[in-house]
Amino acid sequence: MKKHFETEAIRTQIERTQYTEHSSPLFLTSSFVFDDAEQMQASFAGENDKNIYSRFSNPNNKELVDKICVMEEAEAGIAFASGMAAVYTSFAALLKSGDHIVSARSIFGSTHSLFTNVFPKWNIETSYFSVDKPEGIEDIIQSNTKVIYAETPTNPGVDILDLAFLGAVAKKHNLILIIDNCFATPYLQQPIKYGADLVIHSATKLIDGQGRVLGGLIVGKGDLIAEIHTFYKNTGSALSPFNAWILSKSLETLAVRVDRHCENALTLALHLEKHPKIIAVKYPFLTSHPQYAIAKKQMRHGGNIVTFQLDGGLEAGQAFLNKIEICSLTANLGDSRTIVSHPATTTHSKLSPEDRLEVGITDGLVRLSIGLENIKDIIADIDQALDKI
Ligand SMILES: Cc1ncc(COP(=O)(O)O)c(C=O)c1O
Repeated sequence: MKKHFETEAIRTQIERTQYTEHSSPLFLTSSFVFDDAEQMQASFAGENDKNIYSRFSNPNNKELVDKICVMEEAEAGIAFASGMAAVYTSFAALLKSGDHIVSARSIFGSTHSLFTNVFPKWNIETSYFSVDKPEGIEDIIQSNTKVIYAETPTNPGVDILDLAFLGAVAKKHNLILIIDNCFATPYLQQPIKYGADLVIHSATKLIDGQGRVLGGLIVGKGDLIAEIHTFYKNTGSALSPFNAWILSKSLETLAVRVDRHCENALTLALHLEKHPKIIAVKYPFLTSHPQYAIAKKQMRHGGNIVTFQLDGGLEAGQAFLNKIEICSLTANLGDSRTIVSHPATTTHSKLSPEDRLEVGITDGLVRLSIGLENIKDIIADIDQALDKI
């Protein structure tokens, strides 16, 4: 019987042990034992699904992956030590020297650094298309292009890309479409339904939701996941079983948490739109968002990230952060605690000022990751900080 999203998030569990526990236990073990030499030989030969060593597989990682596969409607998946381990491993496993990546220009800073500083060392180049002119994508596809890569919503600009459009282009050119679904989570958006071959998550964000552990996930087509898994087993980016246990428990509450995150974010975005000190507010479910119609088409709600522009550049952005009393100044997002950050001087400081401007990161841009506090307190904190600058 096909169950609803929330039910799957709670009821997808690994098999009970002989201790008949209700909630899944933690399998904090590096390796697993065999009944005899023949079983050990068969396991190493891949003739059964038995766990061997936690760098390859572990029951807690399996539960997390099974859950996220159900949520994303994916065939298979892998759990990684961080979101960046998932991003890096997917490309390193699937690409070879001479291959080419087509990517949206607006992507997370570390992913941009991989494309700019790491992959060129192995003769893998990247060409970029603008999120506001995605139709330009076909002009930059080359005969050696293997992958189309995008985030939607993007970090930090909360730009939206049309997943159905990307899916159609990838299919037409026989390319692997990889979507970083970190800002939306499978509760708000399921890229595979639109033609994505692989979906990546930084589980560190809304999937954990309480700022405790790092984690990453890749889910998607079985054959691609199998190829990535071979590379993964030998390169040591496995998620710790403890973190997998935390993240699997977190998924049980994803839907209720994300509903509230989004409700709070929309309330705040509507409030900020009217604030005299703010030049512009961006949130996917504001009618003023340039891709509002696409966001409405492919997302359940608008997510928990709101950005706004202050007049006065770097100085104003940093002055605002310095006046904040409740919200946290920290690098993370998707936490139960509201976070304020200044991308130009932090997450995206490695980009040149020109590259930053191209993806809409002005010096006065502030990114808010809206938490689960009472939104009236968050609005009051932001208002008092704005009053003082
Ligand atoms: C969109 C996106 N992708 C990937 C990552 C990397 O994830 P992690 O920090 O878990 O390595 C981040 C981190 O902020 C992110 O925002």
